[in-house]
This record gives sequence, C-alpha cells and structure tokens, in this order.
Amino acid sequence: MEDATVSAIAGSPACGDMVAFYLKIKNGTVEKASFESYGCAANIAVASMATEMIIGKKIEDVWKVSWKQISDSLGTLPTVKFHCGILAIGALRRAIRKYYKTKNIKPEWLPEASTFEEKQALEEEDLVDFLSKKVKGQRLNADQ
Ligand code: FES
Repeated sequence: MEDATVSAIAGSPACGDMVAFYLKIKNGTVEKASFESYGCAANIAVASMATEMIIGKKIEDVWKVSWKQISDSLGTLPTVKFHCGILAIGALRRAIRKYYKTKNIKPEWLPEASTFEEKQALEEEDLVDFLSKKVKGQRLNADQ
C-alpha cells in the first residue's frame, strides 16, 4: 500500500515465515488494510481475513481482534497452524503500537506489556536469530 499510515512486519525472512501489515488510518479508524505474507497458506488466510475484519473499525476495536476469532471465522485452523495466526496478529498489533509511538500518544486501552501474540512473534524472531547464528557458527567451524 503506497499511502499506508503505518506498516509493521513480524517473523523472519530467514525461515520464510513473515507477514507485514499496511494500515491507512484516518480519524482513528482503519480506512484501508493490506498485507504481504511469506508464510504458509494458514498465515495468508489469517492475514487476509484480518484485513477484511478490520477495515472500517476503530483502532481500539482492531486491537481486540484475536487470532482465535479469525481462526473461527475461517472454520478453525489446525492446531499445528495456530502459530501462523498468532504471528499475523502479532504483526497487526505491532503496527498499532508503532502508529501510536510515531504520534507520541498513549491511549489508556493500549496495554503497557506485550500481549501473548506480540511475545510469540518476538520469540519466533529470537529463535530464528539464534538458530541462524548457530548454523553460521557451525559452518565456520566446518570450514576451519
Ligand atoms: Fe510458519 Fe505458517 S507461518 S508455518
């Protein structure tokens, strides 16, 4: 989206699981929403459904959209795909935090602490970072 007010990414291109959200926000409402996913079909489905569900909503209501709600509207994700939905919501919430941080506003409904979805997205990124460093280290040791 070329005229996005804010965008945010969660995941890592290193493992191929990555999702980005683009939001056009006007008067506290999401006017337009789009996404790019480099995740699996479940991640694409959740991100797509999320954009459908949040257009026209106040940001506070967008914040409350859960991966479980989206999963239910898709007819339920398989258990092994829960993290794909969680990653998408982590990215969406990251975009909302970024929006308010840029505006230097702290709405009272916005929790100080990261939500479960945001923590999961971070953990996934940290794990990928850790594993890629470990693999690089093993390659260096193998080359010596
Ligand atoms: Fe990683 Fe679906 S986004 S398996």
